[in-house]
Amino acid sequence: MNTAESTAQAGRMKALRAHARGGAEQLVYEDAPVPEDPSGSDVRVRVKAAAITLDELTWEETWVADGVDRTPTIPSHEFSGVVVAVGPDAEGMAAGDEVFGLVPFDRNGAAAEYVLVPSDSLAAKPAGVPDVVAAAAVLPALTAMGALEEPLGLVAGQRLLVRGGTGAVASFLSQFAHRMGISVTVTVRSSTAVERAKRLGAEEVLVADEPAGIAPGSFDASIDAVGAGTPDWLYRAVRPGGRVITLQEAPDADLAQKFGVDADFFLVEARPDALTRLGAELAAGDIEVAVAQVYPLAEGRAAYAGTGRSEKPGKTVLDVAARESSDTA
Ligand SMILES: NC(=O)c1ccc[n+]([C@@H]2O[C@H](COP(=O)([O-])OP(=O)(O)OC[C@H]3O[C@@H](n4cnc5c(N)ncnc54)[C@H](OP(=O)(O)O)[C@@H]3O)[C@@H](O)[C@H]2O)c1
Repeated sequence: MNTAESTAQAGRMKALRAHARGGAEQLVYEDAPVPEDPSGSDVRVRVKAAAITLDELTWEETWVADGVDRTPTIPSHEFSGVVVAVGPDAEGMAAGDEVFGLVPFDRNGAAAEYVLVPSDSLAAKPAGVPDVVAAAAVLPALTAMGALEEPLGLVAGQRLLVRGGTGAVASFLSQFAHRMGISVTVTVRSSTAVERAKRLGAEEVLVADEPAGIAPGSFDASIDAVGAGTPDWLYRAVRPGGRVITLQEAPDADLAQKFGVDADFFLVEARPDALTRLGAELAAGDIEVAVAQVYPLAEGRAAYAGTGRSEKPGKTVLDVAARESSDTA
């Protein structure tokens, strides 16, 4: 038995936690209680890899659930791991199943040795897909799939403008939209990103923070895959009646009205069917998943601070299993 398993039996685990609202500086690697025995349809998962979204410490759900402060909070909602205990209503799940999925944003996350997850927020991880890759893909890929299926509602031949073409969500948007026959234009900040953006499926890559020369109304839809502060050109670029989707904050109703577009905030949900489809795509090697950096859980604070964030595009992932292996006698 390794140290992680013996401490878990004592009801303790290692976790990355924030005791007060803030940024990466609040994160502490410490002992925390192992999540309770699962009830209902929850399952307890021993985490092997947990991916991070740098913006997640700015999300309200990271700090508050149903209006109640939920510190100390454990971040990271994108995980791969092994089921170790199942609730009475967790159908089709058993201890030992290798799974990947998304922890609801207002629950404690996966930057820990164990996490409690509703069984409909995970799916079987295909054998052969590395945990780090499965964890890295979950949130951005499901976000891109969900946004394309529902709020963007585009069909082949239509035009999509994506702000922030090098990001994790944008990378999957380009790949999926291109396969659907949608013409994708992305904006990037550096010319070094152009080749990759094109390889991922962008037909056109605009290198500028504030791209000039986009004809007003020339796109059927746009999406802000950078974050907060959606600029007005992302609204102006869309034809009247088209869609503008934000991912980090509510859209600007005045700008939407000014340009005659439907603007909505989209929030991803973990759906077993989408996870199963993603698992199949990962197993088949049909999509490119970029992992920029891998940190041990103990160095989670540096991971969230973006310390040493390389020029390499992609997700930052916490290799939680690394502690267990190093602890194994
Ligand atoms: N609502 C939802 O369901 C949901 C789900 C997932 C993510 N999100 C949100 O979606 C956003 C993107 O997430 P992500 O995981 O894709 O983050 P990410 O990988 O950090 O991507 C953000 C990208 O934006 C680029 N960028 C920053 N400023 C830019 C600018 N002015 N012009 C062009 N590109 C710019 C960054 O480029 P550099 O590499 O050059 O810095 C980075 O590649 C975040 O705000 C996240 O919180 C929301």
